Amino acid sequence: MTRDSEALKPRAAVAAMRPYHPPLEGRDGLRLDFNENTSGCSPRVIAALRSLTAEDLARYPEYGPAQADIASHFGLDPARVLLTNGVDDAIFLTLTTFADPGETVVIAEPTFAMYRFYAERAGLRIEALQYQDLPGAPGQGRVFHLDPAAISTALAQSPHPRVVIVANPNNPTGSLLPNRAILELAAAHPATLFFVDEAYADFTPDPAGLLAAVERQPNLVVARTFSKAHGLAAARLGILVAPPALEPYLRRAHAPYNVNALALICARAALADADWLAEYRRQTLASRERLQAALAALGLTWWRSAANFVLFQAEGGPARNRPAAELVQFCRSRGILVRDRGRDVAGTVRITCGPLADTDRAIALLQEYYRAPRGRAPRGGVPPDPAAPPPATRSSPPAPARSGTPSQAHAGAPASSATPPGSAPSQPAATPRPTKGNALPVAVFDMDGVLVDVSGSYRRAIAATVAALGGAGVEPVADAEIQAMKDAGGYNNDWDLSRELLRRRGVEVPRETVIAAFNRLYHGENGDGLRRTERWLLPPPALTAWRRRYRLAIFTGRPRGEAETALREFGVAAAFECCLGLEDVARGKPAPDGLLILADRLGPLAAFLGDTVDDAASARDAAVPFIGVLPPGHAAPQALAQRFTAIGCLGVVPSAADALALLPEAVRL
Ligand SMILES: Cc1ncc(COP(=O)(O)O)c(C=O)c1O
Repeated sequence: MTRDSEALKPRAAVAAMRPYHPPLEGRDGLRLDFNENTSGCSPRVIAALRSLTAEDLARYPEYGPAQADIASHFGLDPARVLLTNGVDDAIFLTLTTFADPGETVVIAEPTFAMYRFYAERAGLRIEALQYQDLPGAPGQGRVFHLDPAAISTALAQSPHPRVVIVANPNNPTGSLLPNRAILELAAAHPATLFFVDEAYADFTPDPAGLLAAVERQPNLVVARTFSKAHGLAAARLGILVAPPALEPYLRRAHAPYNVNALALICARAALADADWLAEYRRQTLASRERLQAALAALGLTWWRSAANFVLFQAEGGPARNRPAAELVQFCRSRGILVRDRGRDVAGTVRITCGPLADTDRAIALLQEYYRAPRGRAPRGGVPPDPAAPPPATRSSPPAPARSGTPSQAHAGAPASSATPPGSAPSQPAATPRPTKGNALPVAVFDMDGVLVDVSGSYRRAIAATVAALGGAGVEPVADAEIQAMKDAGGYNNDWDLSRELLRRRGVEVPRETVIAAFNRLYHGENGDGLRRTERWLLPPPALTAWRRRYRLAIFTGRPRGEAETALREFGVAAAFECCLGLEDVARGKPAPDGLLILADRLGPLAAFLGDTVDDAASARDAAVPFIGVLPPGHAAPQALAQRFTAIGCLGVVPSAADALALLPEAVRL
């Protein structure tokens, strides 16, 4: 038995630390809580990862080429750039290279929690200054201000603090200290090292930040991350840029293999896609303005932000007597995660900005929450279904039925629906539907065949999968055969359709094999698969006309990520308020679930535009007016139109652009 005096004890600094529990579990939903890039990274990153070989994984990483690429991207000398395992690693490296236990580090709070965490771990004394909450210019929100004079006073003490850390912009306040002020302070306090964390620099008016200044300011280091704008938080990669006099010490103390090769592959591919980053930045800045304006319109107090998030007072103004936690819970129940920052600034919530469609969803929820009669929170909406399947890729099996509900969409069987075949059409009348408040009504689109021409992608992938797995001599699949099966319904899932075609040719293949072969053809090895042939169908003027009268949403059988990637690639992501995919519904089409979820989230649905009988059945059972769209190159459009009419529809049109004329102007309450 070990006596207590013999038990192993940690270092005093570690024993004194409070445990830190990263609040990062169970984050299903739209993640507006951690300032991540919610649209994911550039597709080039995914293509680069797909091209990895076993040999690539077997070797220890070589840092030189990535370091050179990254340095050249930022216009820096590679010798100045240290690759780090996120900014976190850079913080700890800097503190432990330049400060001995017991020495002082200055931080300003509220700020990123990791500064305190790593300072405590290094056994440093922490001197915490405070951001001051000040009124801003009229209509411009409040500002959390860090007074350079307060920093100067703190650094003038004897002995001098060894390091001062400034997040610029700061998290969670969004405050930006002018670069000039930091340089003046650094020049005035040469005995202190200035660590400037520019994790959010991409969202400021001057994304170059202080990187170039490092060369001429001997007591300045700057950290950057790939976790935010580049959408690579999981890769854990950052850089620390250090002046010639300090860089050798940091390199000496640096763990030699702390960054993995996959992170480097991701970063190089991300940097090569400047257009993608520019578009994400454009949308994020527009989102931030939109969110700030919406908060102001709701009468809430908010703080002007230079980063990809906005902090606001969730308990003030119209929220009287409703704790911030209630808003956070309400948003979570509607599938949106936002961050309670009450521990930093009482009553506050922080919302991440990114793609406009995501921000619009968050704004709609805030409006619903704060406009509900006082004392009565709006109901929580559709809570995440615990029985719902995990997020899927195209290679996932179809979603199971909710327990206790008979599946209407089991793969491989013809469509069944709540209304027996042959019964009278139950299409609702085309009466204009009242909408909530001033919001426009919602029009929902199926994606494939309606918004995107997939005749060269999914259709060809089906035929090619059958040819590849059927072997020589198997009867080729004609377009008409695929179309006939689609028209019969029950095969919205193209893997199962391919498998059924093989079965009809006497070839039994495991489902996983079909999925793998299909995906190889559809995605290609380096992003060069059949999906590259897809074409956007709704011309910009038609899309604008739709947007003038409706809020737009998508309900697709594709995995949501795949659908959102396509929307981004076609440059139309901002037009759609919500995109519901394969993994979002317990039962796919022809079940009505997706449309019911959308109606619950967004308000009454004016119409659903689809190109298959399953789409039509789904609309009928959700009591949403259906408009049949004939997909490009359909071999028997008249027969399809008759089927739509039999199920019930407002009309059948050759393209979604023509459908607007079928809808009466909506009535607003
Ligand atoms: C100011 C600041 N710096 C750094 C980070 C994290 O950077 P990394 O993921 O590179 O460790 C965050 C994340 O929230 C942050 O807010």
